[in-house]
Amino acid sequence: MAESLIIDKSLSKAEQYDQVIAQIEALVATESNQMANLANVAAVLKEAFGFFWVGFYLVDSPDELVLGPFQGPLACTRIRKGKGVCGASWADKKSILVPDVDAFPGHIACSSLSKSEVVIPGFSGDEVRIILDVDSDNLNDFDGTDQEKLEKLMQVLASQGVW
Ligand code: SME
Repeated sequence: MAESLIIDKSLSKAEQYDQVIAQIEALVATESNQMANLANVAAVLKEAFGFFWVGFYLVDSPDELVLGPFQGPLACTRIRKGKGVCGASWADKKSILVPDVDAFPGHIACSSLSKSEVVIPGFSGDEVRIILDVDSDNLNDFDGTDQEKLEKLMQVLASQGVW
């Protein structure tokens, strides 16, 4: 990928994800620095889909995540394993779709504007290494397509050796 992103807004959401994921795969294939790649992935997702908050939390110790590259408002820097949606995704080793954050037990309100979110773990073998967190300031803003395609993105990033 060159330094410009191509998104055909006439395509379905699933097709737009496929188009964006292909460009991200090409982008990270030419760079080995993790922070550079994660920063550009967050930027591409923000530019492509206009997410309110999109970014990464990295496993920093056996029981804590630390904030990584992101796009959006100021965020919590550390999240304990099992806490909030990100910590639950890490502990349970699965992605989580939250239509209404106020209905999620233990949700961490980094921003009171955040209303719904989707969180995807990134694996190295069986171990969670990183979490992708996408937040919206609208209720019920994500569906199974977002969850499925963002899971695919995280598999592509893992296979490209981003973590
Ligand atoms: N809402 C997340 C915290 C991270 S931020 O919203 C950026 C959670 O409950 O895990």
